[in-house]
Amino acid sequence: MGLAIAYELAGRGRAVTVLSRRRSEAAGFVAAGMLAPHAEGLRGPLLELGQRSLERIPGWVARIEADSGLGCGLRPSGIVVPFRSVAERDAYPTAPYGQPLDRRGLEREIPGIGADWPVGLLFAQDGQIDNRRRLMRALERACVGLGVAFQEGAEVLALRRDGAGELSGVELRTAEGEQQLLSCREAVLACGAWSAQLLPELPLFPVKGQMLSLQGPRQALERVVFGPGTYLVPREDGLLVVGATSEPQAGFREGLTPDGQRTLQSGIAALLPAASCWPPMERWWGFRPCTPDEGPLLGASSVTGLWLATGHHRNGVLLAAITAELLGSCLAEQGGAHTVPAGQASATGSGGEGLSPEERRRFIEAFRWDRFQQGPPGTQDSGERPQRSAQLPAPWSGAPA
Ligand code: GLY
Repeated sequence: MGLAIAYELAGRGRAVTVLSRRRSEAAGFVAAGMLAPHAEGLRGPLLELGQRSLERIPGWVARIEADSGLGCGLRPSGIVVPFRSVAERDAYPTAPYGQPLDRRGLEREIPGIGADWPVGLLFAQDGQIDNRRRLMRALERACVGLGVAFQEGAEVLALRRDGAGELSGVELRTAEGEQQLLSCREAVLACGAWSAQLLPELPLFPVKGQMLSLQGPRQALERVVFGPGTYLVPREDGLLVVGATSEPQAGFREGLTPDGQRTLQSGIAALLPAASCWPPMERWWGFRPCTPDEGPLLGASSVTGLWLATGHHRNGVLLAAITAELLGSCLAEQGGAHTVPAGQASATGSGGEGLSPEERRRFIEAFRWDRFQQGPPGTQDSGERPQRSAQLPAPWSGAPA
């Protein structure tokens, strides 16, 4: 999320520095890269946000590829969701957007699919991108090309505010262990699951996910398979990314667990039995930033000058494109126009078919960070809200990484 926003802002001519505590823990390096608003069964404004981001992905990726000179591994592979019964299938929130499949259809789309699944839905509009090996690298290179500065290993310890309560800087510890004050009037908080450590009022908690990958034969599987609790994401070279456990009770506890890995193995056996024999490649874990309704926190925070782009839970890769656009607009509206220095403009510009001001306003309103709070009567806006509601562990935040 941070890289996507840095890329957007640099393309708009802003001077950007990315502060990153540990590159490897960024969700962009952990996620499977599914572009799946329909397969994930999203609803309400979150579905709309996902759909609008999905539309933007091809143009967004083309710009990153042009600016970086690197491919991102975008695959419009479609995603199949198998079900155990017709009733289950028809009750799926996004069923109207999918193509119903009977058993023959399932076998055609997923050769070798397990016997437990009589029916399914094909979401041909969903897809995937090779985030871990390609997109993140391309984004980094595109950012560097646009003049973005990086401080890797720099941990932000605290926010500094001036007498009026506005952002005036951040205190950080550099990779060399020195404490520094970096002055700034604007910053974007995109710390994923750890965001509430800097701003404890944010209703955010980690949901751990364990993953693994297998090396399959090239083209053994073309579609992504999104089963309950396990999904299979086939890359072009046959690498199969398998995710993911969902462990809110784990907090920030690091590491793989036998239970988590067994869950994935039995998911593989149920979805695609032949893949159980494919050679294992990697195992890893990460932490999704989750909010009470599983929607992100976007736009202004309680600190003037500090913007939020966090809480994307299961959909960070998908939502990166639209989040970057929304945050780019927020900062532009606040900070005024900026001239793009010669030689720094994005190869194809940052725009494309942008959101209308009204759409931007609706999304920013629907995903404001304080939407869960009860204000005095009359202060609540009546706009649509994300509908899902997650179990919110107490306390919301503050668990150390
Ligand atoms: N987007 C899938 C996951 O978070 O596991």
